[in-house]
Amino acid sequence: MTEKTDASATVAVLMGSDSDWPLLEETVKTLHGFGITADVRVMSAHRTPDQAAKFARNARKQGIQVIIAAAGSAAHLAGVVAAHTTVPVIGIPVKGGALDGLDALLSTLQMPAGIPVATVALGKSGAINAAILAAQILAVADPAMQAKMDQHKKTLADKVKKGNARVAKLAAACRSC
Ligand code: RP5
Repeated sequence: MTEKTDASATVAVLMGSDSDWPLLEETVKTLHGFGITADVRVMSAHRTPDQAAKFARNARKQGIQVIIAAAGSAAHLAGVVAAHTTVPVIGIPVKGGALDGLDALLSTLQMPAGIPVATVALGKSGAINAAILAAQILAVADPAMQAKMDQHKKTLADKVKKGNARVAKLAAACRSC
């Protein structure tokens, strides 16, 4: 179970339940867009605590350089994984349940000093940003990945430029509206 699901994976994507997959699919798709292979698994800080701890302890040996961990409700997966490894951990709080994700957000975010979890936003933007942050961490020691990150920023800026031109036209047409 500690063997990677894909031998070339450098990022692990963990989720507390298969019900989290629709959100984590965004993370995996974004990683793939940067050419990053992910080791994707369901494991739980509460339901399979031994497996979560074992995975975290073995992650570095397995070649995992960043761990993304998502969970909802009393979301302890990212924190528990971070407690058992020095591999950087990015936490994704999952919306849903009685408090609609506020519980998961605070559980993932409010780690005690000494055990960092880089927590991203609730919702699709957080799932995508987790993948981008993982890519940026890999880019520290990978010039090819750094070039992909530069291209990503350029793509964002081009989109804003196009949006500005579109709104300028709409505003001009709207002078008499
Ligand atoms: C968390 O509880 C999971 O990460 C999931 O977001 C939530 C609900 O899990 P299920 O009851 O759908 O398995 O541990």
